[in-house]
Amino acid sequence: MYEKLMSCLESIKAKIDFKPEVALILGSGLGDYADEIKIVDTISYNDIKGFPVSTVKGHKGRFVFGYVGETPVVIMQGRVHYYEGYPMSDVVLPTRLMGLMGAKKLFLTNAAGGCNPDFKPGDLMIITDHITTGVPSPLIGKNIDQLGTRFPDMSEVYSKRLQNVIRQSAAECGVAIQEGVYVQFTGPNYETPAEVRLGRKWGGDAIGMSTACEAMAARHMGLEVCGISCITNLCAGMSDTQLDHKEVQETADRVAADFKKLVTSVIQNM
Ligand code: HPA
Repeated sequence: MYEKLMSCLESIKAKIDFKPEVALILGSGLGDYADEIKIVDTISYNDIKGFPVSTVKGHKGRFVFGYVGETPVVIMQGRVHYYEGYPMSDVVLPTRLMGLMGAKKLFLTNAAGGCNPDFKPGDLMIITDHITTGVPSPLIGKNIDQLGTRFPDMSEVYSKRLQNVIRQSAAECGVAIQEGVYVQFTGPNYETPAEVRLGRKWGGDAIGMSTACEAMAARHMGLEVCGISCITNLCAGMSDTQLDHKEVQETADRVAADFKKLVTSVIQNM
């Protein structure tokens, strides 16, 4: 795995010389955020040998390098999900790669269902912690000693400092913000109502199919991590309607303007 990472890194370095400070992963609805920044260069995932390529419609699949204000960033426009069939080690390869490019902070965004009954579709939520009991750890397998230790501490996956930055930025932008625990399940199916109740009993506020594994891989490498979920729907069994991807995308698109404003502010305040 380390060799694969190094060979991906080499093929990027052969094309572009750029040291990001912040790595940003874009979730549903935020896809076109990358087009709004001062772009320096882009690399399609297809052009990186050995790189896992997303199969989800509407996910672009490229790294975008550029500046948000003065901050050099690398953005993942399109991420890979475990449910696409890749092993977890491949799912987190792009995250690790951004760490190896030099990024010191990782900013995660996603779409998620709300299992906290106080949430409503369109809410944005600071991820304060996560539960990954439903998915294998991305750190299973031979430890990559060059990246981090065998038994990494996970007592503050989502940096308290960056959580405060998000709170402050949300206030500055006039964007209302919720807070809560993100539960990762594998997908691609949405959860059953019984699984949603389980997620809630575990202590979760939102349920999704990404993000927590990426956060763990980044913490393993010592990156400072933060994340925001867009609550696109209430989870299965919590409303009269059935879930569908179209509704998820429509809600994500509806709040995208506020979400983007907040992301820019957070990066500048980091
Ligand atoms: N469950 C899991 N993932 C999701 C959901 C959901 O309800 N909504 C958006 N992503």
